[in-house]
Amino acid sequence: MFNLVLFGPPGSGKGTQSENIVKSYKLLHISTGDLLRDEVSRHTPLGTEAKKYMDQGMLVPDEVVIGMISGKIDDAPDARGFVFDGFPRTRPQAEALDKLLEFKNTQIHLVLSLEVPEPDLIKRLVGRGATSGRSDDTEEVITKRIKEYHLKTQPVAHYYNEQGKLEQVTGDHTIADTFKALTKHINKYLLPVA
Ligand code: AP5
Ligand code: MG
Repeated sequence: MFNLVLFGPPGSGKGTQSENIVKSYKLLHISTGDLLRDEVSRHTPLGTEAKKYMDQGMLVPDEVVIGMISGKIDDAPDARGFVFDGFPRTRPQAEALDKLLEFKNTQIHLVLSLEVPEPDLIKRLVGRGATSGRSDDTEEVITKRIKEYHLKTQPVAHYYNEQGKLEQVTGDHTIADTFKALTKHINKYLLPVA
């Protein structure tokens, strides 16, 4: 099994590159943002609770997100591996993920951090807001999401760096060039499926 965390601020290209990676390497994509938006659209109690935070650009409480992810890992016992996108976002989430994977006799192998200058992030997300229908793609909420990232999520990079798992990748080239840069790191662990 090969498990990858795709790390980076809002708009850095985690979702875009996850799609490319899961296709090439036949991994399973777990995006907590997508899972939460699905709960919101189905008006589940979890979704109703999560929406309050998401609309403000705040992180949803750890216990809600951890509970949601644990089932997803259990649902796929035969997976070749996972790409975690937008998770873990706090140190308690990272510790919980380590425990969940340890229970499956596996671990996080690699953390790829997409580095994109802040003005580019805002430009991308405001641009996406025109068509995405995401209630958090307004300039006001985008600014809050980036602030929340610096405050609560960036320390997670340090957590993985201490374990020797963190690699930084420039994320402001084209989508294809960024993907190529990511694959150079992944290929050290797993080769793409033809
Ligand atoms: P989430 O859905 O995870 O959003 P995010 O991290 O804020 O980031 P985005 O999904 O907006 O950006 P991305 O990095 O995926 O970039 P993308 O590929 O789309 O989280 C949303 C909310 O859910 C959070 O605020 C929180 O409330 C909650 N939540 C989620 N997970 C949580 C957790 N673990 N704990 C607690 N709360 C959680 O690209 C962005 C745009 O840029 C696109 O239009 C794309 O086409 C474009 N683009 C991509 N790459 C390039 C490129 N190289 N050049 C030019 N444009 C590009
Ligand atoms: Mg995303």
